[in-house]
Amino acid sequence: MTISRRTLLVSALLSAVMLSACGKKEAAPAPAAEAPAAPQVKEYVVGTDAAYAPFEFENEKKEVEGFDMDVLRAVADKAGFKVKFVNTPWEGIFATLAQGDRDMVISAVTITDERKQSMDFSDPYFEARQLIAIGKGVTDVKKFADLKGKKVAVQTGTTGDEVVQKLLGKTSADIKRFESTPLALKELESGGVQAVVADNGVVINYLKNNASNGIATVADNDSFAPEFYGIAVKKGNAELQGKLNEGIKAIKADGTYDKIYAKYFGEKK
Ligand code: ARG
Repeated sequence: MTISRRTLLVSALLSAVMLSACGKKEAAPAPAAEAPAAPQVKEYVVGTDAAYAPFEFENEKKEVEGFDMDVLRAVADKAGFKVKFVNTPWEGIFATLAQGDRDMVISAVTITDERKQSMDFSDPYFEARQLIAIGKGVTDVKKFADLKGKKVAVQTGTTGDEVVQKLLGKTSADIKRFESTPLALKELESGGVQAVVADNGVVINYLKNNASNGIATVADNDSFAPEFYGIAVKKGNAELQGKLNEGIKAIKADGTYDKIYAKYFGEKK
């Protein structure tokens, strides 16, 4: 019994070796035919700072929702993968990519040269600009430079923080930094600062949905360059970057993107 089994095994092994030595011409079952497994849909973990309506926010059920989520889900649909959103504080959000805790970050992230040194981005999917919000009774701010000598709140480490640093100085005591943009705007409401500088879409959305206590906005297109949001991936992850770009292209081409855009911002002008 034992011997004959062993003999069988040896001859089976031998023929396997011979078959594979003969190469593909042999009529042996092709490896692919042996594994008819269902196509595996990869699920990626996505970091987002969900305190940034309408781009990302938590609904009553504590689920992450928003423009970015709709965009990425549609992109994933086209490119054949799944996504799982994980609410992640803005501070340190990019480090999660390098550490491998998140596969990508979609969080209204502006593509900047500095960030490009430590991560890679998809093609842009949204255009934004900084916007100044001024508090009740502030009448002498007509342009960005007028913020000199004023107290300004920003979300730490955002492009808003960067532009204000350029104007007031990196270590200026007049810059008050907050971990989220809504907190910066609350500070403006309560009179702790005279202005906030942040992404236009978020400021406008906030003022629309909150009793914002006399806050007004000042646009300054001469001082603020257009910014473009991209989806960030770990530096060198060209495979995922490629899938994202493929999906973005597809949703722009077939009207899906425009539908999502209209849902959040109205028809494009
Ligand atoms: N666009 C700005 C930046 O990239 C602000 C983004 C903040 N996003 C957020 N979900 N908190 O710096």
